[in-house]
Amino acid sequence: MSLILAEKLSYTFPNGSKPAVSDISFTAEAGERIALIGHNASGKSTLLMLIAGLLLPSKGKLTIADMELSRKTQTAIRKKTGILFSQVEYQFIMPDCLNDTMLSIREGTPEERKDRAMRLLEKVMIADEAEQNPLALSSGQMKRAALASVLAKDPSLLLLDEPLANLDKPSSDSVIEILQSLSIAIIFATHARLALESLANRVMVLEGGNIIYDGSPKTRQATQFCRHILL
Ligand SMILES: Nc1ncnc2c1ncn2[C@@H]1O[C@H](COP(=O)(O)OP(=O)(O)O)[C@@H](O)[C@H]1O
Ligand SMILES: [Mg+2]
Repeated sequence: MSLILAEKLSYTFPNGSKPAVSDISFTAEAGERIALIGHNASGKSTLLMLIAGLLLPSKGKLTIADMELSRKTQTAIRKKTGILFSQVEYQFIMPDCLNDTMLSIREGTPEERKDRAMRLLEKVMIADEAEQNPLALSSGQMKRAALASVLAKDPSLLLLDEPLANLDKPSSDSVIEILQSLSIAIIFATHARLALESLANRVMVLEGGNIIYDGSPKTRQATQFCRHILL
């Protein structure tokens, strides 16, 4: 069974006049790294929130890890997925990086949870800032601290909304390097050529809530879309 199966999936916001995601069908497997690209308002963030189980389909079906998304399975699907929003400031719950990361680790003694949190902070190169308030960090550090907290859930699927937004080149490079080292499936919305070129093995182009291209990022058609859409 596929990790994700979307069948004629649509979502309309309660106050929306037309679907933000419209009649989308695709499958995705474990280990895939998919870039979602498209102009503003094309439906990228809405699709990520559906896959994360944060929104429920208005029409059609979405199956994640063999569970059809519904009010009943929503909590289980949220546990399987980790989402990093474009503005990570809103993701932190605890006042320091270590406790924020530990909060998402459900198993083990307090010592084991602390060890695992420290290993994750080392992986994202925030170990020296473990005791600091994440909101006091630079934007690059803050992004990496939020990534540690999301990875602490041990998700099967990582969803990233504009992971390189507001980052300079060195910070972008380090986020990319961390993401490249992960073996879980990653779906990320981006406007950054760097993210697409260094991470994606598949690209989906969204326009008006529809998928207008789904395939290799290397084809002539994909290259043309990238030229029109990416920074
Ligand atoms: N909370 C919301 N309430 C109503 N409409 C929304 C909301 N969020 C997004 N939309 C609308 O849904 C459509 C898709 O938006 P979004 O998924 O944010 O696109 P993208 O991430 O590609 O910029 C847009 O028309 C947008 O205005
Ligand atoms: Mg968006």
